[in-house]
Amino acid sequence: MTTDWNAWHSLYDDPESGLSRRLRVIQGLIGDWLDRTAPDDVRVVSACAGDGRDLLQVLRNRGDAKRVTATLLEYDEENVARARSAAAEFPAIAVRQVDAGRAESYDGAIPADLVLMAGVFGNISDEDVQATIEALPGMCEPGALVIWTRHRGAPDLTPAIRSWFTASGFIEESFFAPDDVEVGVGSHRYTGPPQPPPANSTLFTFTR
Ligand SMILES: C[S@@+](CC[C@H](N)C(=O)[O-])C[C@H]1O[C@@H](n2cnc3c(N)ncnc32)[C@H](O)[C@@H]1O
Repeated sequence: MTTDWNAWHSLYDDPESGLSRRLRVIQGLIGDWLDRTAPDDVRVVSACAGDGRDLLQVLRNRGDAKRVTATLLEYDEENVARARSAAAEFPAIAVRQVDAGRAESYDGAIPADLVLMAGVFGNISDEDVQATIEALPGMCEPGALVIWTRHRGAPDLTPAIRSWFTASGFIEESFFAPDDVEVGVGSHRYTGPPQPPPANSTLFTFTR
């Protein structure tokens, strides 16, 4: 990896940045999903979770965080430390320092009711995006929601991404694509039957 993924989080310091706007959309989707699934116990997995702020900030402002079990997968040591610190108040939230591009890193954490793929699809090859989407049914409980992001810079891959989700048994719940920033945030619900987890293999490799 060539990117300093710890420093990357400073883009969140500007509340008007595209990244901050993206975060607010993701957090809104997570909050709506929590409302919809209440009062059931639910399981969340977050790939390439960074410092985990999307999920953790939402849970901090709710009274029903105890019904959420979550596993955050993150590779960068400093981000893992910050995520663990932020998650310390939630005993059912674990942060694994692992390669989220390897299927076995998800052992025991899937199938999940909510899968977060934020900040992944813009950093891997198009082939890996497609392969990961095709593996997602094996990571999802039937009815699970996947929240994903991808920038819409040319060539815009989001139309293909949305079609790959459809072909893999998902229906689109929302797609956020504002005119003034290239951010894209989608949410897709898995409508197919239970599937075996992805075989131990590489799902994706970061190219940045
Ligand atoms: C674009 S950031 C997204 C962080 C977070 N999901 C968010 O949206 O704020 C990508 C994150 O993926 C992490 N990462 C990169 N390659 C990874 C890998 N193979 N396994 C796990 N995490 C990885 C980076 O350290 C970084 O924190």
